[in-house]
Amino acid sequence: MADREYNVILLGAPGAGKGTQAKMLAAQLSAPHISTGDILRGAVADGTELGQTAKGYMDCGELVPDDLVIAIARERLAQSDCETGFVLDGFPRTVEQAEALGEMLDDLGREPLIVVNLTVDEDEIVRRLSGRRLCNGDCGGIYHVDQEDIESGAACPAEGCDGQLYQRSDDQAEAIRERLDVYKRQTQPLIDYYGQRGVLVNVPGEGEPQSIAGRVLQAVRG
Ligand code: AP5
Repeated sequence: MADREYNVILLGAPGAGKGTQAKMLAAQLSAPHISTGDILRGAVADGTELGQTAKGYMDCGELVPDDLVIAIARERLAQSDCETGFVLDGFPRTVEQAEALGEMLDDLGREPLIVVNLTVDEDEIVRRLSGRRLCNGDCGGIYHVDQEDIESGAACPAEGCDGQLYQRSDDQAEAIRERLDVYKRQTQPLIDYYGQRGVLVNVPGEGEPQSIAGRVLQAVRG
């Protein structure tokens, strides 16, 4: 149980470890982990209208239009499990999204906001993304081919999970290059945006995931 309300954004380049850290942080804070990427991939898998629109952008590494993603975030953040805090992963990603989020949190009477920026070298990011494998089962595990027995088509190693591992369609070389480019143009400006508002903490995102989790928790608890 969290000792107070924690409204957290995890910022960082594709592959910086936002999803890996968000899962651990959300468990520590007993707060929901909200990933717009996961929500959009769910819509693609379900074949909804949103999913059909989003797929074209996602496969080539571009951002889904702001109005669609802002509507998703607004609906999700209004749900009751977010009343005592949340861990946002992959949202906001543009200044327009950040401004919309600010309005949503004002409307909901929610503060303060803590923004953790995970910093990772670009070569390491490419290595992580090109070797990432995910579980398609309930556990949603995030793995890397450097780990033992991790490859596409293998059984998920998590205890009690009957999922299978797969590679994301946007983890191909060309889409990775585009995502990094999009990140630099559209998302990196948020570092200054939140820095100027005094809510940004930079956390080195290289090293063992557990050590990084300790640094992230420390940054969040201030
Ligand atoms: P999204 O799903 O948000 O992807 P992303 O930002 O590109 O981030 P990733 O999920 O690729 O990486 P991550 O930082 O979570 O790293 P992870 O923990 O998995 O978005 C996908 C697409 O959806 C976008 O391109 C866009 O089209 C659309 N979208 C989503 N949100 C949107 C929005 N707000 N607006 C518009 N469009 C939106 O780790 C990566 C790998 O590294 C794994 O293999 C992991 O095992 C490994 N790893 C993690 N930590 C470590 C460590 N410490 N050491 C070594 N390896 C590590």
